[in-house]
Amino acid sequence: MDYFNYAGNELFAEKIPMSFLAEKYGTPLYVYSKKTLLRHLGEIKRAFRPTGALICFAYKANNNIELLKLMNKEGIGADCVSLGELLLARKTGVPAHKIVMNGNGKTNEEIKLAVKMKIKMLNADSVEDLLNISRIANSLKVKARISFRVNPEIKVPTHPHIATGLKESKFGLAYDDAFKAYQLAASLPDVDVCGIHMHIGSQITEIEPFEDALKKLAVFSKKLNGAGIKLKYINAGGGLGVKYHSEIPESLDKYASVIKKYALKIAPKIIIEPGRMLTANTAVLLMRVILNKNSGRKSFIVADGGMNDIMRPSIYGAYHEILPVKIFSEREKKYYDIVGPICESGDVLARKRLLGNMYAGELLVLRGAGAYGYSMSSNYNLRARPAEVLVDGGRDVLIRKREDIQKLI
Ligand SMILES: Cc1ncc(COP(=O)(O)O)c(C=O)c1O
Repeated sequence: MDYFNYAGNELFAEKIPMSFLAEKYGTPLYVYSKKTLLRHLGEIKRAFRPTGALICFAYKANNNIELLKLMNKEGIGADCVSLGELLLARKTGVPAHKIVMNGNGKTNEEIKLAVKMKIKMLNADSVEDLLNISRIANSLKVKARISFRVNPEIKVPTHPHIATGLKESKFGLAYDDAFKAYQLAASLPDVDVCGIHMHIGSQITEIEPFEDALKKLAVFSKKLNGAGIKLKYINAGGGLGVKYHSEIPESLDKYASVIKKYALKIAPKIIIEPGRMLTANTAVLLMRVILNKNSGRKSFIVADGGMNDIMRPSIYGAYHEILPVKIFSEREKKYYDIVGPICESGDVLARKRLLGNMYAGELLVLRGAGAYGYSMSSNYNLRARPAEVLVDGGRDVLIRKREDIQKLI
């Protein structure tokens, strides 16, 4: 549930009309609802309280420091995958014991910072990654806490680009190789091998894949126990999928109880790294129609936001709902493709959407833009990234300036 609703015939962010925000800040514009974010944070904290889990927000999903500060205040930690994200977590004020680090290609500089910061844990992605961590920990005279990312090698019902726990995945250790890797890690004096990590993929709305994966890791952890390797932490990876369209995600309570039931068979302490579950539906991308174009039998709405502002539709074929900011019920409806201005045929934000006629200068929004939206945006076609605004009831605050095209040049 979110707080982007129509009042009369106009779409609001909480108590502020979208048209006001478009006038004040320009378009394209990411508009966040604070009430929605706090609601999501509250729900996940409530559902996971009985599990005692540490919740680390996946910074890759959204890296706006003002939103991250709100999360930090609510006790949420950080899952980082780069030097930039580690520095951001530090600047946000996240305590080191609430930071974990992932990545299949961590550089020496990144490992060095993570070890120096004494973060909770580095999730080693391979034996090679482990050896790098161990070497750097030795040079810094710090014992680094590590997990291995192990692939449970189960099939997951999601887009192939975001299914990651597979045998052929570029991430993590193959299940059959993992035991040897743990034995090696246990023999190294500069690492404390204390956890196991999995991330089977994103936008998974069913519970069974998580259950299957954890069951498999439970079998594996028994084998480790038998060899005297006792795990303290199980990191169950990213969160449940969200509703972008007609998905009906499993309830948070069920998800939390399944994680608890199976994860505790692996290790006494649970970590999760949700991204989209916390922020996807906290934002919309507000855009203006540049023109309404007919070509052959097709009708297009050309918006001023495109794949440079939100990549998900182009790279995953992801569905995002499109809504007009003003509803004119008397207008004829027809099927439109909503496209951006980028010089790529793939710059299509939505296909075959039944919308009332829209004219140049009118406003529309793309919903579910709060995760992997701004954080995946680019300057492609030499376009400035949009601004971000946080709405809190009747107040709006600029939380990231629009990029300045002159500075980019
Ligand atoms: C290792 C890892 N953890 C967590 C996440 C967050 O996933 P989600 O946003 O689906 O919760 C991702 C997403 O790619 C990931 O790769």
